[in-house]
Amino acid sequence: MIFERVVRPGLFRLGGGDAETAHEWTLRRLAALSGRPAALAALRSAYAVAAPRRAFGLDFPNPVGLAAGMDKNGVALPAWPAMGFGFVEVGTVTAHAQPGNPRPRLFRLPESTAVINRMGFNNDGAEALALRLAGSRPLGVPLGISLGKSKVTPLDQAVEDYLTSYRALRGHGDYFAVNVSSPNTPGLRELQDREHLDALLAALVGEKPVLVKIAPDLTEPAIAELLRVCLDRGAAGVIATNTTLGRDGLTGSDVSRAGEAGGLSGRPLTGRTRDVVAFVHRETGGALPVVGVGGIVDPDDAKRLFDAGASLVQLYTGFIYRGPGLVRAVARSARR
Ligand code: FNR
Repeated sequence: MIFERVVRPGLFRLGGGDAETAHEWTLRRLAALSGRPAALAALRSAYAVAAPRRAFGLDFPNPVGLAAGMDKNGVALPAWPAMGFGFVEVGTVTAHAQPGNPRPRLFRLPESTAVINRMGFNNDGAEALALRLAGSRPLGVPLGISLGKSKVTPLDQAVEDYLTSYRALRGHGDYFAVNVSSPNTPGLRELQDREHLDALLAALVGEKPVLVKIAPDLTEPAIAELLRVCLDRGAAGVIATNTTLGRDGLTGSDVSRAGEAGGLSGRPLTGRTRDVVAFVHRETGGALPVVGVGGIVDPDDAKRLFDAGASLVQLYTGFIYRGPGLVRAVARSARR
């Protein structure tokens, strides 16, 4: 409640209401806090919830993770478990450092509890992340690393590009997420096709669990084909889903923002995410663990994803609107 009444209004006013200014300010504060053990301990005692799970060979203190894209460069790592997250996915990083798309590129749609972003994988590059992680203390919760394709790399050299990142980072992540579903890198989603994905997984699957993050805009036959490749190649699981190119579910004055290019997340994605999670679970007979992400804005949304077969869940947009109280509430509702 304090978050929604006091913290959020302040954050949403920063930078004249520019969403990325609020994001940067928050990350700076969390990075500073990450070096203060007493502050971390205070947060932990307020937010950390035990609801242990085991998935793809890893132990999670609770099944609620931070979704990729929030802390792309891993600058505030200790803050996330202190705010109750049971795992953290950093990235998406690319082999080459890159600036992403021109600003503004992040837009809040508050009446719809949604966000549109076209960040375009702005990140410091895999090498920089590896250096940062090498100098960090152990996180205490599983760390996932999301890998994407550099914008300058043509699609037919994508495998080498992902491999470059993977080689730099393989000693630092507990699992790797292959992001082939961001709508903001031209052509990237084609890597979800059978041949591309087969080559990618053949190169990456090995010592660490590799999960494939998929788009909510795929048809069921396309998802079924992708799942066969995942099973054949030994992927450890699927992360469902990334942001959507669809614009259903916007309300009030947010409807006027529908033309903004980029991926939509938050409340408008809740139903579609549940359908995709349920489809993946059904189609694989539960053989492939699913991380459910998309439109979790209250604990019931997460409960429905667990009921649909998700082993774990992740938050992004819900965290922007509800803060760490949502992490705690979802983790509490997952206790059994
Ligand atoms: C994202 N998301 C994302 N996903 C990913 O795999 N790599 C990334 O770099 C990013 N970056 C990113 C930036 C911003 C600003 C947003 C809002 C989202 C997608 C995110 O991890 C998640 O899959 C979707 O946002 C759906 O979940 P929510 O936001 O509805 O909880």
